[in-house]
Amino acid sequence: MMTQPATSPFPVSQNVANMKPSSTLAAMQAAEALRATGAHVVDFGAGEPDFDTPENIKQAAEQAMRAGKTKYTSTGGIRELQQALIDFYADRFGARYERPEVMATSGGKQAIFNAIVSLINPGDEVLIAKPYWVTFPEIVVFAGGTPVFIDTEENGFVLTAEMIQAAITPKTKVAILNSPSNPSGRVIPPAEFQRIMEVLAERAIYTISDECYLRFVYPPAEVFSAASLPLELRTRLCVAGSFSKTYAMTGWRMGYALAPTDWTRAMLKVQSHSTSNATSIAQWAATEALRGPQDSVASMLAEYTARRQWLLHELRGIPGVTCNEPEGAFYAFPSVRGCFNDKVTNSDEFARALLEQEQTVVTEGAGFGAEGYVRMSYATSMAQLQEGVTRIRRFCSSLSG
Ligand SMILES: Cc1ncc(COP(=O)(O)O)c(C=O)c1O
Repeated sequence: MMTQPATSPFPVSQNVANMKPSSTLAAMQAAEALRATGAHVVDFGAGEPDFDTPENIKQAAEQAMRAGKTKYTSTGGIRELQQALIDFYADRFGARYERPEVMATSGGKQAIFNAIVSLINPGDEVLIAKPYWVTFPEIVVFAGGTPVFIDTEENGFVLTAEMIQAAITPKTKVAILNSPSNPSGRVIPPAEFQRIMEVLAERAIYTISDECYLRFVYPPAEVFSAASLPLELRTRLCVAGSFSKTYAMTGWRMGYALAPTDWTRAMLKVQSHSTSNATSIAQWAATEALRGPQDSVASMLAEYTARRQWLLHELRGIPGVTCNEPEGAFYAFPSVRGCFNDKVTNSDEFARALLEQEQTVVTEGAGFGAEGYVRMSYATSMAQLQEGVTRIRRFCSSLSG
């Protein structure tokens, strides 16, 4: 009988060893594990809409499949989708893009990955405002760059041009902007966004504007895309967009990048040697998403608006909890610092104890660079929100007891 050779530890590459596991996925896994025991879990962890993909979008995918549109596409995507994106940005934001500046990607995440990997050399610095979406620094680290974090807490988590100015060094290569923000839901006002872009343009720094939550903004905050800025502020701009949230299409993996031709060419090179192209039938679905009726977006937004209002009011009524107003996306990002005691001393312990004691999932804030806070997704039913808030209130009061 052959004996198995002793296994040595997997020799993980240094770049991957340096990456942290995703705290949002960790929260999802914790919820799964608890659910499997039969517990009634209230889950505020999910970073995805609780709505189904609209019917017209599903039909477009089905038709594409039946028509045999099931082969490789060109790396940047089908012409129809590129044109739909160009038309959308022209109609909504008065922006003029040409096809060589547009590419379809496998989710917005791949657009950001392409943008960073095609630009960053070891030692380059990348500006990232705290709190940040967990993936930003990890892609930078993977690419050999150095994330430079900007603290925004003093301004209620809204980044300003002055903060950017103060963080720039001769090594700064790119800034990642994300408005509306995951996890804080905060929105950079358009005039401030423009000032930020002026500072970056003056120093010839590249910008990735992650506009994943572009359409989910609550008045008086305004829907704004960096694509609408004057051309001279867009010469080093990559807009990274996504179909995931806007059209409840997280599983379809559809996103896009809009960037100057030379940057797009470099990103196409990365993509051609990784995923080749976004899924063909998902591209046809995404084309319909942009070209077809938009009422599903409006009805999701109306639902999020009502939940947000309710949740914010309830959270602010819990002793020890404070919360900035989320102006976009579908997350509340309350501070729970006021609830800490000698056993629960940080947001990770808070999230773990809440899960154990009340079977309720929130995502701890340190993973987003904001210790003392937790992220709560309100992309869940009103009934779940009500039950969850009741549990959190009970939990917080148990901590002070
Ligand atoms: C801020 C932000 N950017 C980008 C993405 C990527 O989304 P996707 O890859 O599903 O398009 C997400 C998803 O959670 C996000 O929250």
